[in-house]
Amino acid sequence: ETAELVDRFGRVARDLRVSVTEKCSLRCTYCMPAEGLPAIPRENLLSAAEIARLVGIGARDLGVREVRFTGGEPLMRADLAEIIGRSADAAPGVDLSITTNGIGLDHRIGELVQAGLTRVNVSLDTIDREHFAALTRRDRLPAVLAGIRAAHEAGLSPLKINAVLMRDTLAGAADLLGWAIDNDCRLRFIEQMPLDADHAWARDNMVPAAELLSVLGTRFELTDPGRDDPSAPAEEWLVNGGPATVGIIASVTRSFCSACDRTRITAEGTVRSCLFGDDETDLRHLLRTGADDAEIARWWRAAMWGKQAGHGIDAAGFVPPVRSMGAIGG
Ligand code: GTP
Ligand code: 5AD
Ligand code: SF4
Repeated sequence: ETAELVDRFGRVARDLRVSVTEKCSLRCTYCMPAEGLPAIPRENLLSAAEIARLVGIGARDLGVREVRFTGGEPLMRADLAEIIGRSADAAPGVDLSITTNGIGLDHRIGELVQAGLTRVNVSLDTIDREHFAALTRRDRLPAVLAGIRAAHEAGLSPLKINAVLMRDTLAGAADLLGWAIDNDCRLRFIEQMPLDADHAWARDNMVPAAELLSVLGTRFELTDPGRDDPSAPAEEWLVNGGPATVGIIASVTRSFCSACDRTRITAEGTVRSCLFGDDETDLRHLLRTGADDAEIARWWRAAMWGKQAGHGIDAAGFVPPVRSMGAIGG
């Protein structure tokens, strides 16, 4: 019997995001501190088998329909293919994807697809090598581009690219869109949320979707395809009449929290009901003390029932969460 992950506001979570590590090969300023996040003690990290067990419970008992593995950077786990393979066995028919920075993907894509990976989203904020190095604190743009090429060659096109909107890269946004169109990538810009470890985010200084649209409008003709879906995070625009499109995820100025369908598991095995909700429910302890699937499902459901209404970024007295994006998994 399947009891879904429902919250007090009537939302149903069917989209599971699993962070598999806090480690990353980049240090994007909007996500990670320069020195990286404190390492999670090895024994606190869920194993591939434990992750797959939770994925199976989510799919079988709780109505989860798609699973996205994130990090940190998921490719930092040497056993990512094992995680995906075991998850595919535990949850047949469930869509398994990753969100990655692309570094090293060229060497791993074969084993990942073989294991059951169906989709890849790549994070890329600029195609200007110097801007990339400044933003990510690492000069690795060529490695990212090699990863994107490899994903195409493995048949995973069209690929989605995520670009977080930053003041420093706004001038290059039109170049990035031109590059994406030429390279069969579906670009989505994302409003920056206050999830940076340095707490430098400021509402007055973030780039809102409206400002991006006016910048892109100087180079491209953007038209509304006229099928607005208020529950989809990305608003899609046709570029120069189509078929190319560009998406904008206006998480801050046009919040989609009221339609949120996400549930999260952290790398340490806690349920996190919202990006912005710091109270987490520990499932690792249950996994390791012999709890059966029904008991784990019960705790997971209880955790989601307590999900907050939304991120509350614009509310008076808003305080950003303790965990930064790199420790939640986007
Ligand atoms: P698709 O299924 O391919 O559409 O992927 P996705 O958009 O669900 O996942 P992805 O990892 O590519 O995330 C895209 C962006 O959405 C991230 O960069 C985040 O900024 C934002 N995002 C992800 N999860 C949440 C969330 O739960 N709440 C909010 N407000 N934003 C989120
Ligand atoms: N605001 C919005 N999106 C973010 N991401 C990382 N940090 C932030 C932030 N502060 C994005 C990454 C990646 C996805 C998982 O989350 O670029 O594409
Ligand atoms: Fe859902 Fe929380 Fe993200 Fe809003 S901020 S979309 S409620 S996870």
